Amino acid sequence: MRVKPIALVTAANNGIGLQIARDLATHGLTVLVGSRKLEHAETAAKSVGADARALQLDVTKQASIAAAAKRIRNEFGRLDVLVNNAGISDVGKQGISHAASLDEGRAVFETNVFGVVAVTQAMLRLLGEAPAARIVSVDPSSPQRTLFGPVYSPSKTALDATTLAFAIEFEDAGANAACPGFTSTSLNKFDGTGTAERAA
Ligand SMILES: NC(=O)c1ccc[n+]([C@@H]2O[C@H](COP(=O)([O-])OP(=O)(O)OC[C@H]3O[C@@H](n4cnc5c(N)ncnc54)[C@H](OP(=O)(O)O)[C@@H]3O)[C@@H](O)[C@H]2O)c1
Repeated sequence: MRVKPIALVTAANNGIGLQIARDLATHGLTVLVGSRKLEHAETAAKSVGADARALQLDVTKQASIAAAAKRIRNEFGRLDVLVNNAGISDVGKQGISHAASLDEGRAVFETNVFGVVAVTQAMLRLLGEAPAARIVSVDPSSPQRTLFGPVYSPSKTALDATTLAFAIEFEDAGANAACPGFTSTSLNKFDGTGTAERAA
C-alpha cells in the first residue's frame, strides 16, 4: 500500500497558507494545518479535507515548535514537505529610517526569518526520515516587496539568503522559495490582484 506523504504548512489558517494546504490535500498528501490559534487550525483543517490535521504552531515560540515536532514524530515518524508560510508585513508605518522602530523591525524578522530557521531546525530529523523531503519558503518576488512595509522587504531578502543556505546545506532535501504572486490577503489589506481563501 502506498504511504501518503505528510506535509506541514505553517499559518495555514487563512490566506495563501490555506490555499497551499488545500492544494497539497488535493494532490493526496496528509496535511498538518498549522496555526498559532488551535481553534483556527481546527476550522481550517475541516475545510481542507478529512485527512487534514489541526496543529497549534506559533513559529516564534520554541515550546510550541518543539511540541509540534514531538507530535509529528509520535504520529507519523517523518515529514515529507515543510512549507514555511507564516509571515507578517509591518505595523503600517512608512520609511525604515524614520518611522519603524527597532522593536517593530525585530518582530517582523522574528517571524519571517528566525521563525523559519527555528521551525526548519526542529523538523530536520523528521525531514531526514522522508525519502525525498522538500522545504519551501513562501517569498515575494523582488518588485512586490516594495508594495509592503519598510521592514518586510529586508526580512524577505534575509529569508532568501536563508533559503539559499538551506539549499546548499541540504542538497538531498530540496529547499526552495516560491512566490504566489501579489495575492489579496490580510497581509496587504486585500489589495492584491490574485485571490486566496479565508477559513478562520
Ligand atoms: N499576499 C501576497 O501578495 C504575498 C506575496 C508573496 C508572498 N507572500 C507570503 O505569503 C505568506 C502568507 O501570507 P498571506 O499573504 O497569506 O497573509 P495572511 O493572510 O496575513 O497570512 C499570514 C499568516 O501568518 C500567520 N502568522 C503570523 N505570525 C505567526 C506566528 N508567529 N506563528 C504562526 N503563524 C503566524 C497569521 O496567523 P494569524 O491568522 O493567527 O494572524 C496568518 O495565518 C507570507 O509569508 C507572505 O510574506 C504573500
